[in-house]
Amino acid sequence: MTSLKAVRGTRDLLPPETALWNRIEATARAVFARYNFGEIRTPVFEDTALFARGVGEETDIVSKEMYTWSDRERFDKQALRRSWETSYTHAWPRIEHLPHEKSDADMVFRDPDDGRVIFISFVEKASTVTRQSLECIVNADRQKCGTDNIYGLLVYPADAGPENVDVNDTTAIGEWPVRGNFFASRQSLTLRPENTAGVVRSYIENKLGESGQLQKLYYIGPQFRRERPQKGRYRQFSQIGAEVIGPPSSGSESPLRDAEVLEMLATLLDELGITGWTLELNSVGSAADRARYNETLRAALVPVVSQMCVDCQRRAVTNPLRVLDCKVPADQPIIDTLPVIADSLDEASRAHFAQVLAALDAAGVPYLRNQRLVRGLDYYTRTTFEFTHGGLGAQNALLGGGRYDGLSEAIGGPKAPGIGFAMGEDRLVLTLMALETAARHEKAAAFIAPLGEGVNPAALALARELRRAGLRIELGEGGFRLKKSFEAADKCARAIVILGEDELQSGILTVKTFATGMQTKVPRAELAVFLNQRTMV
Ligand code: HAM
Repeated sequence: MTSLKAVRGTRDLLPPETALWNRIEATARAVFARYNFGEIRTPVFEDTALFARGVGEETDIVSKEMYTWSDRERFDKQALRRSWETSYTHAWPRIEHLPHEKSDADMVFRDPDDGRVIFISFVEKASTVTRQSLECIVNADRQKCGTDNIYGLLVYPADAGPENVDVNDTTAIGEWPVRGNFFASRQSLTLRPENTAGVVRSYIENKLGESGQLQKLYYIGPQFRRERPQKGRYRQFSQIGAEVIGPPSSGSESPLRDAEVLEMLATLLDELGITGWTLELNSVGSAADRARYNETLRAALVPVVSQMCVDCQRRAVTNPLRVLDCKVPADQPIIDTLPVIADSLDEASRAHFAQVLAALDAAGVPYLRNQRLVRGLDYYTRTTFEFTHGGLGAQNALLGGGRYDGLSEAIGGPKAPGIGFAMGEDRLVLTLMALETAARHEKAAAFIAPLGEGVNPAALALARELRRAGLRIELGEGGFRLKKSFEAADKCARAIVILGEDELQSGILTVKTFATGMQTKVPRAELAVFLNQRTMV
């Protein structure tokens, strides 16, 4: 039998790498807390329309990369019941409804002609299971009441067949298929390709703007895009992101918010130990500026677009700004000659951007201006940015973000300007691994090597003692030869502690620290402190 594999573009995260993921998340949570952010968790799938309207139909994410499916039709029990009720009045004009709170049936009534009590279940399908469960309800009541005069009636949607089938007198359960459509229409759903649209949907739905306060929300979780997998690009990947959003009266439009978010990111990357990042920054202006720029671009593209790729030819008509996202090498020289967005910004947008830059200068956050940085999502207005890292290769964006002053209104909400970012967690891990700062932290402080199986219980006691002192400890096996213990310890720990009968008697243990190669005799009572200090090189 062929073995099953993880789906293309997805992967398992295993120890010790997962420890690095946890450390990144813990550092991010700690930094977010200092900047007074709270966590938000939105569903992993949403109505497709959210992304179509929020992120933009013409973006690569929406037009090519989403995992979208049509959800099964939903059974509308109430519609079936209403329809059945209008038809039963012909068959049983004088029935008597009975209270049925104590029964699992959907409805209970008595037929005045023969006194039969009838339990009704309205179900999506007449299957053996639905029939049996109604039979159970009926039988239980027959026993409870000591009478056989209780029957069940299964009412379900019929695609065809007789409309009225009366209660079958020979068995306890009758069936009544009802013609009509009792299914709510199918809903198109999508695995979230990003989280900003979901956060803004939640902001609107939960009326978070009504507090009048700025909402500062962060999230950590999986996102899904059907992209061509390569190093740093996966179909399921994880983002650590944050959004600052609120009514204009909360200060959400202020350039200080942009600068604060960027300063926080610089701090977070530094605390993660990621050195050598570059912040690239641009302003794509207000919605009006962008509309003006789109027209300028449209006109500029007319004479050259026929030499460009098919996607660009389409975008030149539908959404010219997206031409700037084109990655086709042959198109790049043409794109370089196109007008830049900075020339289309109005006075207010220029002033906003200048204030962002001034605040960054004051805080000492270094940046590079990149006039072509328009980002691949349609909701951006004014400030847009990316942090890149040379160690990542082709997929060099560690994170991206920007302002989205019109997004809430685009998905039916109140005016709620906002700014945010999302970091590719997979890429943070790759960068940290490349920087080789991480692996050391993730090794156990010590590997305990019992000499002989008889020492195993004492080794467990020592491991417990050290673990309770807060140390990460790997416990070996007395059946191993010493050479094998050393090999195992070298792979997963910073030191090896040898525990034989002599050590147990004397209370003096032998510790070898791998980084220095030194072997030391340490009294048991001092071992935890020793391991903590000596092996954290
Ligand atoms: P984005 O630029 O599409 O922006 O994604 C942000 C980051 O997610 C990227 O810089 C990259 O590190 C990571 N990323 C994207 N696609 C993949 C992938 N296939 N595999 C691995 N990592 C990936 C957004 O998602 C916006 N929602 C950011 C934002 C928040 N803007 C405002 N608020």
